[in-house]
Amino acid sequence: MDIQATAQAVQEVQADALIVAARKTGKDEHRVQLSATATALDGTLNSLISELSMDGEFKGGLGEMLTVHTMGRMATKRVIVVGLGAQDKITTQSIRRASAIAARHAQNTGAHHVALALTWNGANTDGAQEVQAQVEGALLGLYTFRMYRSENSNEKEVSRLTLLTKNNTDKAEAEHAIEQGRILAEATNFARNLVNEPPNVLTPRELANRASSMAKQFGLECEVFDKAKIAELGMGGLLGVSQGSAEPPRFIVMRYRGGDANEKGMALVGKGITFDTGGISIKPAATMDEMKGDMGGAAAVLGAMQAIAGLKPNINVTGLVPTCENMPSGTAYRPGDILRIMNGKTIEIVNTDAEGRLILADALSYAAKEGLSPIVDLATLTGAIVVALGNTTTGLFSNDQLLTDEIIAAGRVEGEKFWPMPMDEEYGDAIKSDIADIKQTGGRAASSISAAKILEHFVGDAKWAHLDIAGTSYVDSKKPYQEKGATGVGVRTLAELAKRLSR
Ligand code: BES
Ligand code: ZN
Ligand code: ZN
Repeated sequence: MDIQATAQAVQEVQADALIVAARKTGKDEHRVQLSATATALDGTLNSLISELSMDGEFKGGLGEMLTVHTMGRMATKRVIVVGLGAQDKITTQSIRRASAIAARHAQNTGAHHVALALTWNGANTDGAQEVQAQVEGALLGLYTFRMYRSENSNEKEVSRLTLLTKNNTDKAEAEHAIEQGRILAEATNFARNLVNEPPNVLTPRELANRASSMAKQFGLECEVFDKAKIAELGMGGLLGVSQGSAEPPRFIVMRYRGGDANEKGMALVGKGITFDTGGISIKPAATMDEMKGDMGGAAAVLGAMQAIAGLKPNINVTGLVPTCENMPSGTAYRPGDILRIMNGKTIEIVNTDAEGRLILADALSYAAKEGLSPIVDLATLTGAIVVALGNTTTGLFSNDQLLTDEIIAAGRVEGEKFWPMPMDEEYGDAIKSDIADIKQTGGRAASSISAAKILEHFVGDAKWAHLDIAGTSYVDSKKPYQEKGATGVGVRTLAELAKRLSR
């Protein structure tokens, strides 16, 4: 994607579609208020935009659009006015969303070159943030996964973005913001590709290959452990879950060194189940295909590592990904089995569909043994978190209040929502076993919390947070701002978190 800033006058910008902003107003005002740029265009277009709005065709709600053709009155072919919602609610996230929706609409209606002018004077955002949010929004909104469609054609896609700025000083600042936005959005889309890939292509070995090539391209260190090495390390959870599959497991270790040589740094851990059938405790057929996305945590970690490599914060970050398939077969692990995790603790298996916590237990033990802190893990871990929080908010479980606050704040910057869940001691009662150190599941009540309680056994003294992204990493129907499929949730928040912790 070719992305540039320009200080050209709005009437002179030559694009297939020029996107400008408007906001919703109170009942007794005019229905919409146009941004300064939109007002200038409205003048050139003989008040067409304000007249259409006055007639009620456009009200300025978030993501609402009005398209007008300029019929040769200015350089751009079309103007798309997009609503940012009510003034008091406008944030960088409104701009990111509006940009995604309008850019996507422009792409679907034949535009190749899109110009963006979605700044809003007086919004609770600064100029550079607004530019970054527009770039992120557009790149995220324009994302498609069409590799396997025969009529796939790049001709239909937007290949050029132009960001409008007031003057040359703003333009220089915008260029930096464009790069930041591009790094974050491209890393998110890298993660989305991994999740959207079919499970016959994206096997544990292929996930490790993609991790290695990304690491090479972005200057990160990357090591991949094979089954023999995994066994040598005593990762009984990863071995146990993978033993029903013809595909061997992998354990990916990726390092970014931006801090002092003697600083251990933080760990990012991602669940990498490339397909979750449930194993012997097999899942119903209805939506099993979606379980190709059970490596959304792994994808988020790899995407975050890519973003961090681009943003270069002064901190050391280690990415850890345990990856395998969860299959039923004559060699599969069984309910009743007892597995020994890398840190020596034993887990009594109750339900082979609760596999994520087992492979994470090994990865968290590995992080704790290396002395990494904080440790942040991401996992499509429980169906119960989808029931509790739906598709909009990620469940956050932590043993540290400051880390919780930092993650929520980082998420707010990047337009991702996290909600803290309780971790009181009582929730640990459900996972007591008579014959092993821990029981794998705690029954239906508060099952997202008992899953987190299991993970807590493996983090040692580290500050730790667990993000249950089962509801947020995949959307099962298309939205105005994105197609059906992977969201890439977590990538941008983790990158922003690394930046914050480096200060
Ligand atoms: N991968 C699933 C969780 C999941 C559910 C992810 C829906 C995405 C969407 C996980 O491995 C699982 O099956 N968890 C079980 C645990 C239970 C058996 C204790 C669940 O949540 O039902
Ligand atoms: Zn499962
Ligand atoms: Zn799973």
